[in-house]
Amino acid sequence: MTASDPGKHASSGDERPLSNPASFQSMWADLVDVGRSPATGGYRRFALTPEDGQLREWFDQEATRRGLDVTSDRAGNLWAWWGDPDSAGPGVVTGSHLDSVPEGGAFDGPLGVISAFAALDLLHVQNITPSRPIGVVCFGDEEGARFGVACSGSRLLTGALDPDRLRSLTDLDGMSYADAMAWAGRTPHLLAADPKAVARIGTFVELHVEQGRGLVDKGAAVGVASEIWPHGRYRFDFTGRADHAGTTLMSDRADPMLAYAMTALAANKQARARDARATFGRLAVQPNSTNAIPSRVTAWLDARAADPAILDALLSELGRQANDRAERDGTAVEIAVESWTDLIRFDPPLRDRLAGLLGGAPVLPTAAGHDAGVLAAAGIPTAMLFVRNPTGISHSPDEFAELGDCAAGVRALAEVLRELAA
Ligand code: GLV
Ligand code: MN
Ligand code: MN
Repeated sequence: MTASDPGKHASSGDERPLSNPASFQSMWADLVDVGRSPATGGYRRFALTPEDGQLREWFDQEATRRGLDVTSDRAGNLWAWWGDPDSAGPGVVTGSHLDSVPEGGAFDGPLGVISAFAALDLLHVQNITPSRPIGVVCFGDEEGARFGVACSGSRLLTGALDPDRLRSLTDLDGMSYADAMAWAGRTPHLLAADPKAVARIGTFVELHVEQGRGLVDKGAAVGVASEIWPHGRYRFDFTGRADHAGTTLMSDRADPMLAYAMTALAANKQARARDARATFGRLAVQPNSTNAIPSRVTAWLDARAADPAILDALLSELGRQANDRAERDGTAVEIAVESWTDLIRFDPPLRDRLAGLLGGAPVLPTAAGHDAGVLAAAGIPTAMLFVRNPTGISHSPDEFAELGDCAAGVRALAEVLRELAA
């Protein structure tokens, strides 16, 4: 029994089977081993890798199995339309992403894509023929695990990310996004915003595993999102002077690790004091040797809060403390914003309509980022459905949702699509 397989768990949620359980569970089974570490059970599904290619192929097969054609927009996101959005659109779109964070869970992203296909199956079984086209989308590189910018597929699509900037991003091995695209057999110079693809989206609804315990506390299998907290990714480059760990007097050192260590502690303290979140989860040390003082420590901060003003204050306080400490140590620090997402409030009438349609489903905020936030920021009426996560754990192999709750999510999504596409 593993956390990545909802089918192997007894459900404490709604036990009614999916109308087409074979479809949901066989899609789940097809994906479960892609990019999964046999040692940890964690996933490594990064943009423009062999795993990414397998996942895109899977999407193509699932669409084709349902008689739908797959197209890629100019930002590299995949689309399967039931109906023609160009003649009968704009349509109703659902879907999510298939990439993961390093050592991620099975549900973050794939649950939304699998549930999208399963919801179409459910409408089909119910003999429902929507008046408006329904699209299933798979956004590229939502997590930004390899190239650092979150939601690059949806940001590029909507014009929020410059294609030249995306092409020039590099991974930890120094490979550029453009070169990685060429490696994957795709054409980097064609990358661009795609207003025609955007114009096909009348409404977007993303289903996602909840990444907290809000629905557990409310005793509900499915909820509706109200807003996404503003959040940013910041790169801190602490620089000093490499030297011998044994022969260099403590008073003669310019050790950048010290300012980093102080900043990591300060980030935690400042975030607690402001009811914000701050995490240093990634570090690169040069030369990364036990018996040498480092010359450079690069540390990435993920910071989030309910209000952008709180984040501004948090970052300026951290910048002040990091610079003070670096100066005292004879080292230096530079801070760069790698990605920023403003506060997103999902379309209130749509949010309330969905909550009502789902029998008064709870409405709750999230501090996690999503492509839905990018589409909402682009002015597209957008909503999100969350599926209960019994532990709240996410971005970890322990991320989980019960099969009964996944089934409730599919039924809720099908109901929402039926209503919005009527
Ligand atoms: C995406 O999952 C994020 O919130 O970082
Ligand atoms: Mn995620
Ligand atoms: Mn996600």
